[in-house]
Amino acid sequence: MGAGIAQVAARAGFTVVMRDVAEEFLARGLKAIDKSLQREVDKQRLTPDAKEAIISRITTSTDNAGLRNAFIVVEAATEDLAVKIEIFTLLDKIIAMDAILASNTSSISITRLGAVTQRAERVIGMHFMNPVPVMKLVEIIRGAATSDRTLAEVRSLTERLGKIPLECQDSPGFVSNRVLMPMINEAIFALYEGVASRESIDGIMKLGMNHPMGPLALADFIGLDVCLAIMNVLHDGFGDSKYRPCPLLKRYVDAGWLGKKSGRGFYEY
Ligand code: CAA
Repeated sequence: MGAGIAQVAARAGFTVVMRDVAEEFLARGLKAIDKSLQREVDKQRLTPDAKEAIISRITTSTDNAGLRNAFIVVEAATEDLAVKIEIFTLLDKIIAMDAILASNTSSISITRLGAVTQRAERVIGMHFMNPVPVMKLVEIIRGAATSDRTLAEVRSLTERLGKIPLECQDSPGFVSNRVLMPMINEAIFALYEGVASRESIDGIMKLGMNHPMGPLALADFIGLDVCLAIMNVLHDGFGDSKYRPCPLLKRYVDAGWLGKKSGRGFYEY
């Protein structure tokens, strides 16, 4: 998702530093950006020169030096609290005092991330949706200490990126995943209990509810490890058994069948 966020920011005219832990991930990100922009060139919505100009605004780095002058850093690391805490603690010491630290987390508490920094009022959630260049929403999550100023600046930035900011309070799963993930989890239970085939479950939701993808295909698209992590956040956060992850979801993750990215999930790719 980091690549998608870099792409929309560069497309909106911003200079972007894409930072990751290894060159191979950065190369993969740049390849995804190139492919996504090429679709637009092919459809004659973007000239080849404009595409190159967008790409030239993105530099890559495996260290934090390039982030020092950023006015905002959007973290999009794996959905793991310990990893995000480590990143926020470190970035807080490196980036400009007044810079905003945003997280693209899909469910982790913004208040907890803010609390490990000396700038909790500048910490906020910017939850982009996949595929980032296509989806209009950015769910904006306000932590306990997030200031009005930070909120206003991030709303305005989101609009400059061509997206629509919609706000919510810091609560497990926010709004998007509190509503989406239990639906996906329930679809997995239906498969697990033999209520219907994967094609039937997805077809019923696509044709009957006009969803662009069925819930099982969507789970594969999001990543089954991400779905499981989010269900665990909901389960722990609310302490309510209605959020227990389906055993079939756990089994697939244990098997390394993580969906589209690993070549196998509820479908084969
Ligand atoms: N980059 C750029 N453009 C892309 C793209 C990408 N990665 N993927 C698709 N597109 C564009 C296509 O070029 C096409 O554009 P036009 O209509 O303008 O020609 C358009 O999107 C539709 O794509 P396709 O025709 O190839 O395929 P589709 O109609 O099946 O749409 C989809 C694909 C947009 C992914 C659609 O299936 C969809 O909306 N799925 C649901 C996505 C969703 O629910 N996302 C949220 C997931 S939850 C999340 O991200 C957050 C979380 O916390 C878990």
